[in-house]
Amino acid sequence: MNILESIQDRRSIRTYTDKEVSASAVEEILEAARLAPSGSNTQPWRFIVVRSDKMRSRLAQACHNQQWMNQAPVHIVCVADVQAQCSEVRELSIDEHSPEPEAKRVIRCTAIAIEHLVLQAQALGLSTCWIAWFMQSDIRPVLGIPEDKYVVAVITVGYSDDRPAPRPRKALSEIVRYESWDDAGGT
Ligand SMILES: Cc1cc2nc3c(=O)[nH]c(=O)nc-3n(C[C@H](O)[C@H](O)[C@H](O)COP(=O)(O)O)c2cc1C
Repeated sequence: MNILESIQDRRSIRTYTDKEVSASAVEEILEAARLAPSGSNTQPWRFIVVRSDKMRSRLAQACHNQQWMNQAPVHIVCVADVQAQCSEVRELSIDEHSPEPEAKRVIRCTAIAIEHLVLQAQALGLSTCWIAWFMQSDIRPVLGIPEDKYVVAVITVGYSDDRPAPRPRKALSEIVRYESWDDAGGT
């Protein structure tokens, strides 16, 4: 399967079988994230692999009680470390309202690594779902994550028990312009 076919095949999956996800599969998924590009090669992403029933249940609760998350045998908590962007360690507290430009940069880079991870999972026959419906103040304490780190997403990983149809996407003509914002439909 080439990369576009793999992207076309990916769905957000919210129903999983009981089948275990091997440690080697998780490592391959994380390897894809490790190789992502980042501004000035800062590599601000950090990952916490969560398998225990207790911790997955606490994560689901912190994500506005999205109970279906418990079905996925692995949760990968994806964290942006703003200190990776600072020349010296600073006292920072980052949350949804933080204006610091460094926070935006590390979140942007971490999102790239997360999608690498998602696509590698897909290539291995695994399924995933991005979860970002949570507040930092709810999710950080579950895993003891300090206040200067920003949880960008939790990715559920497992074998799908569902085959949802593709969800709609805008046509290229709606999202692409050529040469300038004012492009009047030329190519
Ligand atoms: C940043 C982000 C946050 C998301 N948060 C959630 C979430 O908290 N819960 C959920 O069920 N799905 C979540 N999703 C999945 C989206 O609902 C899904 O990607 C979208 O509906 C398109 O469906 P598809 O991924 O199957 O193409 C999230 C996706 C992204 C990219």
